[in-house]
Amino acid sequence: MKVFHNKSELSQVIDDFKVKNITIGFVPTMGALHNGHLSLVEKALSENQFAVVSVFVNPTQFDNQEDLVKYPRTLEADVALLKTVSNDKIVVYAPAVEDIYGDDVKSQSFKFDGLENEMEGAFRDGHFDGVGTIVKRLFEIVTPNKAYFGEKDFQQLQIIKKLVELHDMPVEVIGCPIHRAEDGLAMSSRNTRLTVDHREAAPFIYKTLKSAKTKFGTKSAKNVTEWVEAQFNKQPLLELEYFIIADVDTLKPVKRKSTKKTYRAFIAVYAGDIRLIDNIALN
Ligand code: PAJ
Repeated sequence: MKVFHNKSELSQVIDDFKVKNITIGFVPTMGALHNGHLSLVEKALSENQFAVVSVFVNPTQFDNQEDLVKYPRTLEADVALLKTVSNDKIVVYAPAVEDIYGDDVKSQSFKFDGLENEMEGAFRDGHFDGVGTIVKRLFEIVTPNKAYFGEKDFQQLQIIKKLVELHDMPVEVIGCPIHRAEDGLAMSSRNTRLTVDHREAAPFIYKTLKSAKTKFGTKSAKNVTEWVEAQFNKQPLLELEYFIIADVDTLKPVKRKSTKKTYRAFIAVYAGDIRLIDNIALN
């Protein structure tokens, strides 16, 4: 498997793909790969001739320096995992920070029709400017036909769709379902940093989301939200940051339910120092 650390080398392969009309499915990641990531790579390979997987811990999307420093970096293991999917149809791009940013490690400022102001945007300062900056740059370098993003980060997925629309980029953005551990916890690179006790407590997040979904059938969003908050108040190991039921198109919190709209419940929880997010489709 070819692993490139700089964009000029990668570009030669990409140019060759273009000459041969080889279609590229792109999966951007920050590494510490798990089965959730691999499901995106499998989907990319099922719909394109080659997959490009980027592994880059993007400094500009972190609002918490400690989270950035402690983010797991496991390139060798990542490459080994990718080889279990395919040895000859995957190209890895694992650049150093300078290859992407030079010596100006800054993000551009973006507007995504207001999607950037909700939830993760409100709680993580500058996060979506960082995500927009890196994904736009990676799209320009990789020039994929299709790019694959997980619904695990549903707001990010909607924002990337908006980025492509607003900047008229020739790439199709595909959303992929959330992969979960057997006990329901959404897979995340940050899960490996949970203590044993926090890991044991964490499946409560998805369990509560499922109950919230059932309750949303008959109760108001406000009612369901209060119920979820009360559940977390009883949980000593998990601290709820937000639980929000929102319209999937605008990501704005629902005021009055409409049968014409599609809703999702979004949650962010601290398990000790580790911040976990999840979401569930409600209707
Ligand atoms: P990262 O958290 O590594 O995730 C890379 C991709 O994998 C994202 O599209 C994410 O939604 C998806 N993913 C993560 N866990 C998943 C799960 N359990 N099930 C399904 N998909 C899952 O998201 C990022 O990196 C970065 O913000 C990035 C887009 C790479 C920009 O830096």
